[in-house]
Amino acid sequence: MRSTDDDTSSLLRLAGLATPMALRVAVTLGLPNRLRHAASADVLAEELHVNAVALGLLLEHLATLGVVERVDDGFRTTTYGTNLCDDTLITTLLHLDTAGGRAELAFVELAHSIATGEAAYPRRYGTDFWADLAEHPHLRESFDRQMSLRIRAQLPHLVAGFDWSRFASLVDVGGGNGEVLAAILAAHPRVSGHLIDLDSAAARTTFRAHDLAERTQVTAGSFFDPLPPGADAYLLVDILHNWADEHAARILARCAEAAGPTGRVLVVEHVADRGTNTEINLSMLTMFSGRDRRLAELQALAAPHGLALDRAVDLTAERSLLEFRRAAG
Ligand SMILES: C[S@@+](CC[C@H](N)C(=O)[O-])C[C@H]1O[C@@H](n2cnc3c(N)ncnc32)[C@H](O)[C@@H]1O
Repeated sequence: MRSTDDDTSSLLRLAGLATPMALRVAVTLGLPNRLRHAASADVLAEELHVNAVALGLLLEHLATLGVVERVDDGFRTTTYGTNLCDDTLITTLLHLDTAGGRAELAFVELAHSIATGEAAYPRRYGTDFWADLAEHPHLRESFDRQMSLRIRAQLPHLVAGFDWSRFASLVDVGGGNGEVLAAILAAHPRVSGHLIDLDSAAARTTFRAHDLAERTQVTAGSFFDPLPPGADAYLLVDILHNWADEHAARILARCAEAAGPTGRVLVVEHVADRGTNTEINLSMLTMFSGRDRRLAELQALAAPHGLALDRAVDLTAERSLLEFRRAAG
Protein backbone atom coordinates (compact mmCIF):
# COMPACT_ATOMS: atom_id res chain seq x y z
CA MET A 1 0.00 0.00 0.00
CA ARG A 2 1.27 3.51 -0.84
CA SER A 3 2.07 5.67 2.13
CA THR A 4 0.77 9.21 2.44
CA ASP A 5 4.39 10.38 2.12
CA ASP A 6 4.69 8.60 -1.25
CA ASP A 7 1.48 10.20 -2.43
CA THR A 8 2.59 13.62 -1.28
CA SER A 9 5.93 13.39 -3.04
CA SER A 10 4.39 12.04 -6.22
CA LEU A 11 1.86 14.90 -6.26
CA LEU A 12 4.60 17.44 -5.61
CA ARG A 13 6.63 15.95 -8.46
CA LEU A 14 3.61 16.24 -10.77
CA ALA A 15 2.83 19.78 -9.68
CA GLY A 16 6.34 21.20 -9.50
CA LEU A 17 7.24 23.68 -12.21
CA ALA A 18 11.01 23.25 -11.80
CA THR A 19 11.34 20.21 -14.07
CA PRO A 20 9.15 21.38 -17.00
CA MET A 21 10.88 24.76 -16.96
CA ALA A 22 14.36 23.19 -16.67
CA LEU A 23 13.68 21.06 -19.76
CA ARG A 24 12.34 24.07 -21.69
CA VAL A 25 15.27 26.29 -20.76
CA ALA A 26 17.68 23.48 -21.67
CA VAL A 27 16.13 23.21 -25.14
CA THR A 28 16.02 26.99 -25.55
CA LEU A 29 19.72 27.23 -24.72
CA GLY A 30 20.48 24.28 -27.03
CA LEU A 31 22.14 22.35 -24.18
CA PRO A 32 21.29 18.82 -25.39
CA ASN A 33 22.82 19.55 -28.81
CA ARG A 34 25.86 21.31 -27.41
CA LEU A 35 26.51 18.60 -24.83
CA ARG A 36 26.82 15.86 -27.41
CA HIS A 37 30.45 16.81 -26.69
CA ALA A 38 31.06 17.08 -22.97
CA ALA A 39 31.73 20.47 -21.41
CA SER A 40 31.91 21.96 -17.94
CA ALA A 41 29.36 24.44 -16.61
CA ASP A 42 32.02 27.17 -16.63
CA VAL A 43 32.99 26.67 -20.26
CA LEU A 44 29.36 26.44 -21.35
CA ALA A 45 28.38 29.52 -19.37
CA GLU A 46 31.03 31.53 -21.14
CA GLU A 47 29.90 30.28 -24.55
CA LEU A 48 26.25 30.99 -23.83
CA HIS A 49 26.76 34.25 -21.89
CA VAL A 50 24.85 32.98 -18.86
CA ASN A 51 25.63 32.73 -15.17
CA ALA A 52 27.97 29.81 -14.45
CA VAL A 53 26.64 28.99 -10.97
CA ALA A 54 23.03 29.05 -12.17
CA LEU A 55 23.85 26.96 -15.22
CA GLY A 56 25.54 24.43 -12.96
CA LEU A 57 22.31 24.13 -10.94
CA LEU A 58 20.34 23.58 -14.12
CA LEU A 59 22.75 20.90 -15.38
CA GLU A 60 22.66 19.11 -12.03
CA HIS A 61 18.87 18.96 -12.18
CA LEU A 62 18.97 17.77 -15.81
CA ALA A 63 21.33 15.01 -14.64
CA THR A 64 18.72 13.81 -12.12
CA LEU A 65 16.27 13.53 -15.04
CA GLY A 66 18.71 11.44 -17.08
CA VAL A 67 18.91 14.07 -19.84
CA VAL A 68 22.63 14.71 -19.24
CA GLU A 69 25.19 12.76 -17.25
CA ARG A 70 28.24 13.77 -15.27
CA VAL A 71 31.52 12.88 -16.89
CA ASP A 72 35.15 13.72 -15.97
CA ASP A 73 35.17 16.98 -17.88
CA GLY A 74 31.68 18.18 -16.96
CA PHE A 75 28.33 17.07 -18.40
CA ARG A 76 27.34 15.15 -21.53
CA THR A 77 23.96 14.48 -23.16
CA THR A 78 22.68 10.93 -22.60
CA THR A 79 20.99 8.79 -25.28
CA TYR A 80 17.67 9.75 -23.66
CA GLY A 81 18.66 13.42 -23.82
CA THR A 82 19.37 13.23 -27.56
CA ASN A 83 15.57 13.25 -28.02
CA LEU A 84 15.87 16.94 -27.15
CA CYS A 85 18.40 17.63 -29.89
CA ASP A 86 17.68 18.84 -33.43
CA ASP A 87 14.62 20.40 -34.93
CA THR A 88 11.84 17.98 -34.05
CA LEU A 89 8.24 18.35 -32.87
CA ILE A 90 9.32 18.08 -29.24
CA THR A 91 11.94 20.84 -29.50
CA THR A 92 9.47 23.03 -31.41
CA LEU A 93 7.05 22.60 -28.52
CA LEU A 94 9.57 23.16 -25.73
CA HIS A 95 11.67 26.06 -27.04
CA LEU A 96 10.51 29.17 -25.20
CA ASP A 97 10.71 31.40 -28.26
CA THR A 98 8.50 29.31 -30.53
CA ALA A 99 4.74 29.67 -30.89
CA GLY A 100 4.12 26.39 -29.04
CA GLY A 101 6.59 27.00 -26.23
CA ARG A 102 5.38 30.54 -25.67
CA ALA A 103 1.74 29.44 -25.65
CA GLU A 104 2.44 26.80 -23.01
CA LEU A 105 3.57 29.51 -20.59
CA ALA A 106 0.03 30.88 -20.64
CA PHE A 107 -0.78 27.94 -18.35
CA VAL A 108 0.31 30.13 -15.43
CA GLU A 109 -3.01 31.90 -16.04
CA LEU A 110 -5.07 28.68 -16.03
CA ALA A 111 -7.04 29.84 -12.99
CA HIS A 112 -8.34 32.75 -15.07
CA SER A 113 -9.45 30.38 -17.84
CA ILE A 114 -11.19 28.09 -15.37
CA ALA A 115 -12.96 31.02 -13.71
CA THR A 116 -14.12 32.63 -16.94
CA GLY A 117 -13.89 30.07 -19.74
CA GLU A 118 -11.74 32.61 -21.57
CA ALA A 119 -8.31 32.09 -23.11
CA ALA A 120 -5.33 32.74 -20.85
CA TYR A 121 -3.01 33.75 -23.69
CA PRO A 122 -4.29 37.35 -24.08
CA ARG A 123 -4.15 37.82 -20.34
CA ARG A 124 -0.48 36.84 -20.30
CA TYR A 125 0.64 38.50 -23.53
CA GLY A 126 -1.87 41.30 -24.03
CA THR A 127 -2.88 40.01 -27.44
CA ASP A 128 -4.49 36.90 -28.86
CA PHE A 129 -2.46 34.02 -30.24
CA TRP A 130 -3.10 34.69 -33.95
CA ALA A 131 -2.40 38.43 -33.65
CA ASP A 132 0.84 37.59 -31.83
CA LEU A 133 1.92 35.30 -34.71
CA ALA A 134 1.07 38.04 -37.22
CA GLU A 135 3.22 40.49 -35.28
CA HIS A 136 6.20 38.16 -34.86
CA PRO A 137 7.18 36.38 -38.08
CA HIS A 138 9.54 33.98 -36.28
CA LEU A 139 6.61 32.76 -34.15
CA ARG A 140 4.46 32.28 -37.26
CA GLU A 141 7.30 30.38 -38.92
CA SER A 142 7.71 28.10 -35.88
CA PHE A 143 3.93 27.52 -35.78
CA ASP A 144 3.87 26.50 -39.45
CA ARG A 145 6.77 24.13 -38.78
CA GLN A 146 4.93 22.69 -35.77
CA MET A 147 1.84 22.17 -37.94
CA SER A 148 3.93 20.29 -40.53
CA LEU A 149 5.58 18.06 -37.98
CA ARG A 150 2.31 17.23 -36.23
CA ILE A 151 0.49 16.06 -39.36
CA ARG A 152 3.09 14.78 -41.82
CA ALA A 153 2.75 11.12 -40.82
CA GLN A 154 -1.05 11.37 -40.96
CA LEU A 155 -1.29 12.91 -44.43
CA PRO A 156 -1.40 9.62 -46.37
CA HIS A 157 -4.37 8.51 -44.23
CA LEU A 158 -6.14 11.85 -44.59
CA VAL A 159 -5.78 11.57 -48.35
CA ALA A 160 -6.65 7.87 -48.69
CA GLY A 161 -9.51 7.82 -46.19
CA PHE A 162 -11.98 9.91 -48.19
CA ASP A 163 -12.96 10.25 -51.85
CA TRP A 164 -11.70 13.77 -52.55
CA SER A 165 -12.09 13.23 -56.32
CA ARG A 166 -15.85 13.84 -55.89
CA PHE A 167 -15.01 17.56 -55.81
CA ALA A 168 -13.61 19.62 -58.68
CA SER A 169 -12.98 22.60 -56.41
CA LEU A 170 -12.04 22.73 -52.76
CA VAL A 171 -11.62 25.75 -50.47
CA ASP A 172 -9.28 25.06 -47.56
CA VAL A 173 -10.52 27.45 -44.89
CA GLY A 174 -7.71 28.33 -42.47
CA GLY A 175 -5.46 26.09 -44.55
CA GLY A 176 -2.25 27.24 -42.84
CA ASN A 177 0.97 26.20 -44.56
CA GLY A 178 -0.95 24.38 -47.31
CA GLU A 179 0.51 20.93 -46.69
CA VAL A 180 -2.87 19.24 -46.24
CA LEU A 181 -4.31 20.75 -49.43
CA ALA A 182 -1.09 19.99 -51.34
CA ALA A 183 -1.29 16.32 -50.34
CA ILE A 184 -4.93 16.08 -51.48
CA LEU A 185 -4.26 17.84 -54.79
CA ALA A 186 -1.11 15.82 -55.49
CA ALA A 187 -3.21 12.65 -55.26
CA HIS A 188 -6.10 14.05 -57.33
CA PRO A 189 -4.95 15.84 -60.49
CA ARG A 190 -8.47 17.01 -61.43
CA VAL A 191 -9.15 18.84 -58.16
CA SER A 192 -8.24 22.51 -57.80
CA GLY A 193 -7.82 24.29 -54.48
CA HIS A 194 -8.21 27.72 -52.95
CA LEU A 195 -6.61 28.31 -49.56
CA ILE A 196 -7.70 31.10 -47.22
CA ASP A 197 -5.67 31.98 -44.15
CA LEU A 198 -4.57 35.07 -42.26
CA ASP A 199 -1.06 34.18 -43.39
CA SER A 200 -0.54 33.24 -47.01
CA ALA A 201 3.25 33.13 -47.40
CA ALA A 202 3.88 29.57 -46.24
CA ALA A 203 1.10 28.13 -48.43
CA ARG A 204 2.41 29.87 -51.54
CA THR A 205 5.84 28.35 -50.87
CA THR A 206 4.33 24.89 -50.33
CA PHE A 207 2.32 24.98 -53.56
CA ARG A 208 5.31 26.17 -55.58
CA ALA A 209 7.45 23.41 -54.08
CA HIS A 210 4.83 20.80 -55.04
CA ASP A 211 4.40 22.22 -58.55
CA LEU A 212 0.78 23.03 -57.74
CA ALA A 213 0.80 26.77 -58.39
CA GLU A 214 -1.44 26.39 -61.47
CA ARG A 215 -4.17 24.46 -59.65
CA THR A 216 -4.17 26.57 -56.51
CA GLN A 217 -5.10 30.01 -55.39
CA VAL A 218 -4.09 31.53 -52.07
CA THR A 219 -5.92 34.40 -50.41
CA ALA A 220 -4.78 36.18 -47.27
CA GLY A 221 -8.00 36.79 -45.41
CA SER A 222 -10.21 35.93 -42.48
CA PHE A 223 -12.75 33.14 -42.30
CA PHE A 224 -15.01 35.49 -40.38
CA ASP A 225 -15.45 37.42 -43.64
CA PRO A 226 -17.36 36.09 -46.66
CA LEU A 227 -15.55 33.15 -48.29
CA PRO A 228 -15.18 32.64 -52.06
CA PRO A 229 -18.58 31.26 -53.08
CA GLY A 230 -19.55 28.34 -55.29
CA ALA A 231 -16.81 25.75 -54.61
CA ASP A 232 -17.81 22.10 -54.31
CA ALA A 233 -16.49 21.75 -50.78
CA TYR A 234 -15.18 23.86 -47.88
CA LEU A 235 -12.59 22.17 -45.71
CA LEU A 236 -11.85 22.98 -42.05
CA VAL A 237 -8.88 20.99 -40.72
CA ASP A 238 -8.20 21.45 -36.99
CA ILE A 239 -9.97 24.81 -36.99
CA LEU A 240 -13.14 24.58 -34.90
CA HIS A 241 -11.38 23.29 -31.76
CA ASN A 242 -9.39 26.56 -31.72
CA TRP A 243 -12.53 28.56 -31.06
CA ALA A 244 -15.26 29.01 -28.48
CA ASP A 245 -18.78 28.07 -29.58
CA GLU A 246 -19.82 31.51 -30.78
CA HIS A 247 -16.81 31.87 -33.10
CA ALA A 248 -16.86 28.25 -34.26
CA ALA A 249 -20.51 28.74 -35.26
CA ARG A 250 -19.63 31.90 -37.21
CA ILE A 251 -16.93 30.01 -39.15
CA LEU A 252 -19.44 27.29 -40.02
CA ALA A 253 -21.94 29.97 -41.04
CA ARG A 254 -19.40 31.49 -43.47
CA CYS A 255 -18.74 28.05 -44.96
CA ALA A 256 -22.47 27.30 -45.30
CA GLU A 257 -23.12 30.67 -46.91
CA ALA A 258 -20.33 30.18 -49.48
CA ALA A 259 -21.18 26.51 -50.13
CA GLY A 260 -24.73 27.39 -51.14
CA PRO A 261 -27.35 24.70 -51.66
CA THR A 262 -25.07 22.13 -53.30
CA GLY A 263 -21.62 22.58 -51.73
CA ARG A 264 -20.36 20.49 -48.84
CA VAL A 265 -18.66 21.51 -45.61
CA LEU A 266 -15.98 19.07 -44.45
CA VAL A 267 -14.80 19.27 -40.84
CA VAL A 268 -11.64 17.32 -40.07
CA GLU A 269 -10.57 17.18 -36.43
CA HIS A 270 -10.60 15.07 -33.32
CA VAL A 271 -14.13 14.19 -32.26
CA ALA A 272 -14.33 13.82 -28.49
CA ASP A 273 -16.63 10.77 -28.68
CA ARG A 274 -13.51 8.81 -29.68
CA GLY A 275 -11.74 9.69 -26.43
CA THR A 276 -10.63 12.87 -24.81
CA ASN A 277 -7.06 14.11 -24.65
CA THR A 278 -7.44 16.11 -21.47
CA GLU A 279 -4.07 17.87 -21.83
CA ILE A 280 -4.86 19.04 -25.35
CA ASN A 281 -8.24 20.28 -24.18
CA LEU A 282 -6.64 22.37 -21.44
CA SER A 283 -4.16 23.74 -24.00
CA MET A 284 -7.00 24.65 -26.37
CA LEU A 285 -8.74 26.36 -23.45
CA THR A 286 -5.75 28.42 -22.32
CA MET A 287 -4.67 29.33 -25.84
CA PHE A 288 -8.01 29.96 -27.48
CA SER A 289 -10.97 29.23 -25.22
CA GLY A 290 -11.46 26.23 -27.50
CA ARG A 291 -11.83 22.46 -27.00
CA ASP A 292 -12.39 19.20 -28.84
CA ARG A 293 -16.15 18.70 -29.21
CA ARG A 294 -18.38 15.68 -29.32
CA LEU A 295 -20.19 14.81 -32.54
CA ALA A 296 -23.52 16.01 -31.16
CA GLU A 297 -21.96 19.34 -30.16
CA LEU A 298 -20.56 19.86 -33.66
CA GLN A 299 -23.94 19.00 -35.17
CA ALA A 300 -25.62 21.47 -32.83
CA LEU A 301 -23.20 24.22 -33.91
CA ALA A 302 -23.80 23.48 -37.60
CA ALA A 303 -27.58 23.00 -37.56
CA PRO A 304 -28.65 26.67 -37.17
CA HIS A 305 -26.73 27.39 -40.38
CA GLY A 306 -28.67 24.79 -42.34
CA LEU A 307 -25.93 22.16 -42.19
CA ALA A 308 -26.87 18.53 -41.60
CA LEU A 309 -24.37 15.73 -41.05
CA ASP A 310 -24.25 13.41 -44.05
CA ARG A 311 -21.46 11.09 -42.96
CA ALA A 312 -18.62 10.72 -40.46
CA VAL A 313 -15.44 8.86 -41.41
CA ASP A 314 -12.54 8.05 -39.09
CA LEU A 315 -9.41 9.01 -41.03
CA THR A 316 -6.80 8.26 -38.36
CA ALA A 317 -6.83 7.39 -34.68
CA GLU A 318 -6.85 11.14 -33.99
CA ARG A 319 -8.96 12.69 -36.71
CA SER A 320 -12.41 12.15 -38.18
CA LEU A 321 -14.00 13.76 -41.21
CA LEU A 322 -17.56 15.04 -40.86
CA GLU A 323 -19.32 15.80 -44.13
CA PHE A 324 -22.13 18.34 -43.83
CA ARG A 325 -24.61 19.24 -46.54
CA ARG A 326 -27.39 21.80 -46.65
CA ALA A 327 -30.45 20.35 -44.95
CA ALA A 328 -33.49 20.12 -47.20
CA GLY A 329 -36.14 22.79 -46.73
C1 LIG B 1 -4.40 24.81 -36.19
S1 LIG B 1 -3.99 25.69 -37.64
C2 LIG B 1 -4.54 24.56 -38.87
C3 LIG B 1 -3.96 24.84 -40.22
C4 LIG B 1 -4.34 23.85 -41.31
N1 LIG B 1 -5.78 23.73 -41.48
C5 LIG B 1 -3.75 22.50 -41.01
O1 LIG B 1 -4.49 21.58 -40.64
O2 LIG B 1 -2.52 22.38 -41.10
C6 LIG B 1 -5.24 26.96 -37.68
C7 LIG B 1 -5.07 27.95 -38.80
O3 LIG B 1 -6.15 28.89 -38.71
C8 LIG B 1 -5.65 30.13 -39.18
N2 LIG B 1 -6.52 31.22 -38.72
C9 LIG B 1 -6.68 31.70 -37.46
N3 LIG B 1 -7.59 32.70 -37.45
C10 LIG B 1 -7.99 32.86 -38.73
C11 LIG B 1 -8.91 33.73 -39.37
N4 LIG B 1 -9.62 34.64 -38.67
N5 LIG B 1 -9.10 33.61 -40.70
C12 LIG B 1 -8.40 32.69 -41.41
N6 LIG B 1 -7.50 31.83 -40.87
C13 LIG B 1 -7.31 31.92 -39.54
C14 LIG B 1 -4.26 30.20 -38.61
O4 LIG B 1 -3.46 31.16 -39.26
C15 LIG B 1 -3.79 28.75 -38.79
O5 LIG B 1 -3.09 28.60 -39.97
